[in-house]
Amino acid sequence: MDYRKIISQTVKIDGVSEEEIYAAISVPPRRENGEYCLPCFRFSKALRTSPNAIADKLKAEIKLPPEIESAESVAGYLNFKLNRAFLAAGTLNEIAAKGETFAPHAPLGKTVCIDYSSINIAKPFHIGHLLTTAIGGSLYRIFDYLGYKTVGINHLGDWGTQFGKLVSAYKRWGNDEDIQKRGVTALMELYVRFHAEAEHNPELDDEGRYYFKKIEDGDAEAVGIFERFKELTLIEVQKIYDRLGITFDSYAGESFYNDKMQPVIDELEQKGLLTESEGAKVVDLEAEGMPPCLILKKDGATLYATRDLAAAVYRHDTYDFYKCLYVVAYQQNLHFKQVFKVLEKLGKPWAHNCVHVPFGMVSLEGGEALSTRKGNVVLLKDVLSTAVAKAEKIIAEKNPDLADKSAVAEAVGVGAIVFSALSTSRIKDMVFSYDKSLSFEGETAPYLQYTHARCSSILKKAEYSYSGGKEVDFTALCDDESIDVITQLARFEAVVSEAAEKYEPCLIARYLLDLAQTFNRFYIGHRVVTQDKKTTDARLLLTACVKSTLKNGLNLLLIKAPEKM
Ligand code: ARG
Repeated sequence: MDYRKIISQTVKIDGVSEEEIYAAISVPPRRENGEYCLPCFRFSKALRTSPNAIADKLKAEIKLPPEIESAESVAGYLNFKLNRAFLAAGTLNEIAAKGETFAPHAPLGKTVCIDYSSINIAKPFHIGHLLTTAIGGSLYRIFDYLGYKTVGINHLGDWGTQFGKLVSAYKRWGNDEDIQKRGVTALMELYVRFHAEAEHNPELDDEGRYYFKKIEDGDAEAVGIFERFKELTLIEVQKIYDRLGITFDSYAGESFYNDKMQPVIDELEQKGLLTESEGAKVVDLEAEGMPPCLILKKDGATLYATRDLAAAVYRHDTYDFYKCLYVVAYQQNLHFKQVFKVLEKLGKPWAHNCVHVPFGMVSLEGGEALSTRKGNVVLLKDVLSTAVAKAEKIIAEKNPDLADKSAVAEAVGVGAIVFSALSTSRIKDMVFSYDKSLSFEGETAPYLQYTHARCSSILKKAEYSYSGGKEVDFTALCDDESIDVITQLARFEAVVSEAAEKYEPCLIARYLLDLAQTFNRFYIGHRVVTQDKKTTDARLLLTACVKSTLKNGLNLLLIKAPEKM
């Protein structure tokens, strides 16, 4: 319910449009003056009369709709009080009708592709991948909820000369048993060793190139080794995806486009967009104020950008997307600007539907001290495990008798990490702290989960069953604290839409914190279960709506909401 809209449709001022009135409506600084007000000063000049007189006249003429209880003229303002019972009934009935699990909106018939996580084969999954994975995974759920068809794409980094080097290192020093056991860490070490030895043995580089050529030519042995490395990497990363509740609809990575680049290169050639530069083929972007976009190297090899051009065309042809999002760190700003510009120059009308969704960097509080010995990268699985272990300890102190302790600790620990990734605006660099993100009192996932569990326990104790059709006396919810909660509840859908529009899951995070804070303020001031049955029923319904909104909101942020904590 948009009250500004209702008010702007109700108030009629000669020569002033509904939009102007809408824009003028604000919230009075003092609560006793009502929920909304219309300052009349700005109309004074046009109407050639005092703000007081305007407000008085409006008050005398106004016909109040059922949503508004009163309009008062005070010192040049028209102050509105809402019909609180009406607001409570409208909001809570609507939420109750959605049940415990909010179903997605009706299909819009529009597809959103989301390229996220997009890991590199044989490279460790470190904390730097947290943001793309969490933001992309959350956007996937948000768009899905809003009725879009979503396609999650893991654009694997599975092509390049480094894989020839890796095969060479494996042939020289590889140990299958060790690789089986330590997975990507062992592969990483082989790669590091290759580089160290290549420094005084330049022949190694030739060997690396030789094996890459073999992979390119489809040599059974080289391809077989590489495919196994790929599989190992994916098995390892799948464990993290499972913990985060993330899925992909496609793992078409860079190598998938090997046979799909030529048509794009041909098209660039035909349209006269390719120029030679020191033997390489590039698209000149000087007029656009950018360095040239490299398409083919001197030796004819394709590049990252060539693959992204082919991928964009493929995605458009395959999915006919409404939007194609690339959730990738801001370090690649230029890359995506170039790629999208080249698509535009190719005359693809859908080029402007490709959107880079950039984000900042993650570091750990305390920096180096916290980095593991494993080649100096902080592995995401270690961060998750540390957080879960800490959560387990906290739960053991707070609630030693809790059943299902380890499942709750998993939800709390992982949730804490994901929430800290999703609760600041994307583009800001983020410093991660275990203690802050695991605090039950701060602006954290455990705080939200705890508030949800509190609602759950209130409802359980009262043996409340969440089926609709209950007659509730909404006048019992007209106090300030209840109305604050209801006002927050009413914002949910608008906040989710805004988060999708701006590609900012943090708006939902902020919203859930506000909702939990207003509910906890209500809870401090009021008993839910009272002597009066009417009041109790109304407050239980309020509590049930807070619970389901928290749970469904957390779900959009990939976070689980246990019933007990
Ligand atoms: N694998 C790349 C990296 O780690 C990210 C790929 C992003 N997606 C894309 N279509 N370029 O930097």
